[in-house]
Amino acid sequence: MDDSLLKRFSVSMEGSLLRKFDQLVTQRGYSNRSEAVRDLVREAILEQTWEENDELIAGTILLFYNHHQRNLLEEMTNIQHDMHDLIMATTHFHLNQESCLELIVVQGKAGEVRELSNRLTSLKGVDFGDFTVAPVEKI
Ligand code: NI
Repeated sequence: MDDSLLKRFSVSMEGSLLRKFDQLVTQRGYSNRSEAVRDLVREAILEQTWEENDELIAGTILLFYNHHQRNLLEEMTNIQHDMHDLIMATTHFHLNQESCLELIVVQGKAGEVRELSNRLTSLKGVDFGDFTVAPVEKI
């Protein structure tokens, strides 16, 4: 069996999610859904491989949150002190009366940096989190 041959499989999702996915496909310039799915899958597998191999990675964790959320700032600070050896810099931007953007530059073993990201983005009050990293050896 040739592994490079395209295989078909069907995917089920809610209509609302599919509509948004179709918008994404158009906005990112993919010629069809399959091409977009392939890219997303490749990206997820790549990150998973780094974590399994304990590769040294560097990148950023981006957090959008409401600083009025009870205990959020304290918990966020505690976590960053807990895992301070992974953090190279933290920059905080006050976007308006309520919203904050925090940019954390990280470097370390993929699994540990992922854990830091998961702990921060899962905090109550964090509205959006993004995690962008790449292996240091390949940069
Ligand atoms: Ni702020």
